[in-house]
Amino acid sequence: MQAIQSPLTVLGIETSCDETAASIVRLHRDQPDGRVEVLSSIIASQVDEHAPYGGVVPEIAARSHVDHLDAIVKRALVESGLDWPQIDGVAATAGPGLIGGVMVGLMTAKGIALARGLPLMAVNHLEGHALSPRLGGAVPFPYLLLLVSGGHCQLLSANGLGDYHRLGTTIDDAAGEAFDKTAKILGLGQPGGPAVEAHARNGDAFRFNLPRPLKGRPGCDFSFAGLKTAVLRTFEALAQPSEQDIADLCASFQLAVADVLVDRTSRAMAAFQPSNTLHRFVVAGGVAANSVIRERLEQLCAHNRFSFSAPPMKWCTDNAAMIALAGAERLSLGMVDPLDALARPRWPLDAASASSTPSHKPGRKGAKA
Ligand code: KG4
Ligand code: ZN
Repeated sequence: MQAIQSPLTVLGIETSCDETAASIVRLHRDQPDGRVEVLSSIIASQVDEHAPYGGVVPEIAARSHVDHLDAIVKRALVESGLDWPQIDGVAATAGPGLIGGVMVGLMTAKGIALARGLPLMAVNHLEGHALSPRLGGAVPFPYLLLLVSGGHCQLLSANGLGDYHRLGTTIDDAAGEAFDKTAKILGLGQPGGPAVEAHARNGDAFRFNLPRPLKGRPGCDFSFAGLKTAVLRTFEALAQPSEQDIADLCASFQLAVADVLVDRTSRAMAAFQPSNTLHRFVVAGGVAANSVIRERLEQLCAHNRFSFSAPPMKWCTDNAAMIALAGAERLSLGMVDPLDALARPRWPLDAASASSTPSHKPGRKGAKA
């Protein structure tokens, strides 16, 4: 086996949805716990460009990535204090995501790899999220992973790089998508998660009795479409909604989502069979930035004797540091990709479960699915 060079310094590129991002990350494989340094991380949000349309417009997203990515890569390099000879590899999100944007990022990475003679790592965006807690400290495999974002809501057993087994997934909307749709119904602006959480702080979570879809049912799947519809009906029934009504509805909705996530995760904890005696739990993805949801999951972990890990807040939502880290980890194991690696709109972390054991037909998916 080839000796592992350490440290490894990798450029990461993320363009799968509405953030154009680049980052330089250094992985010290030879140091205790595989220390990770984020030398730079630039994230340019396109949220203002999509705001007039009430959601992410794929064509606008792709064009905006084209307009901004080169300058953002350059900035990431300058802010890291390094130059090309000190970079060991280039990683880019190769899916899943909006295909136009994914192609922009992957083609840029291929161009850099070719021009600079660097290895290319075509990274699954979901693996980036799965590894993102390591940007804050060591979290060795195996662990039970709750991946909750705008496009995904899944429970997986994370066994190693590229080795994931899905225990449950959503049969309709993702949790972040439910936050975004709730914010839209209530006229709170996008992204919906932070807006709903902010309003919920002043609200009474017990005022509205909203449904908890699939709670108590066998298995580890999720459903959020009915909850979103219940928010719509409840809102429509309010004659002239006050600020307090909206705050109460946000808090009641957030509590319902937290209850469902806790219920489904507790079932997955019972099903999780790690290859060692350690029981680790990781929550990642944009919704992991929600402090009420984090707290409830931490309580569940304490109750079920699982250790709890989550990315530092700033690495919960989409960023390129997690892509650079996934690339560096792959590079350290010799997992590099050819220059004709494909951009993929859909790319399940556990392809076998996704195709051979669907517990349902794929439902409607959000912009990030
Ligand atoms: O991971 P991410 O940036 O993109 C995907 O890969 O999907 O997640 C974005 C999602 C959005 O739906 C956003 O509303 C949600 O994460 N989100 C939150 C919070 N911050 C972001 N949801 C609940 N509470 C938050 N504080
Ligand atoms: Zn994401």
